[in-house]
Amino acid sequence: MSSGNHLQWHSASVNKTERELLNGHQGGVIWFTGLSGAGKSTLANALARSLYEHGVRAYVLDGDNVRMGLNRDLGFSEQDRMENIRRIAEVSKLFADAGFIVINAFISPYQTDRAMARHILSEHPYIEIYACCSLAECERRDPKGLYVKARSGQIPHFTGISAPYEEPQAAEMTIMTEIETVSVAVDRIVTELEKRHIM
Ligand code: PPS
Repeated sequence: MSSGNHLQWHSASVNKTERELLNGHQGGVIWFTGLSGAGKSTLANALARSLYEHGVRAYVLDGDNVRMGLNRDLGFSEQDRMENIRRIAEVSKLFADAGFIVINAFISPYQTDRAMARHILSEHPYIEIYACCSLAECERRDPKGLYVKARSGQIPHFTGISAPYEEPQAAEMTIMTEIETVSVAVDRIVTELEKRHIM
């Protein structure tokens, strides 16, 4: 039975605004979405390095890593992917409230799940970034050899092969990873964060 009716939110003695003053920047979320091999993790980590060099407190949450711990009970069915994204959004909310810029790198293939994440994080600055790369190029890169396994039927429900990827319709930014270099893309994201007065 849910105990939801017997819970009470506790206000913190130090608030987000105070933490942001201490840090010199806002807390918020940058959410990369895209196919496996599109470059989400590469972009997320390059951005984290750049933000570190700018004195910004940022933290990367990445698909494989989160699925080895917090979400180790989840697979890749539509239902499990939704729960994966829901938990990540809730964790991101805590990080953003703590004053961090959370950099998320998840396939997050379903539009409804991305909308759910945006809704959960609606009190915080939020930038969705589509790491856009053709399936053909992702398969050519195949950095973990997963596409070969998926094609041979060893990995069921593989995004782009036997499970869908719904392209974002209204991402704040799109990075064409077949064309744009990582450093140009990172500079563009940093400029966007500055333009939005997040840092
Ligand atoms: S999702 O769709 O947002 O819930 O996926 P995510 O949490 O980002 O996890 C994606 C990583 O899991 C590995 N993997 C798979 N991906 C897609 N489909 C299937 N069936 C699958 N099985 C394992 C894979 O390493 C993904 O990492 P990336 O970095 O995207 O390649």
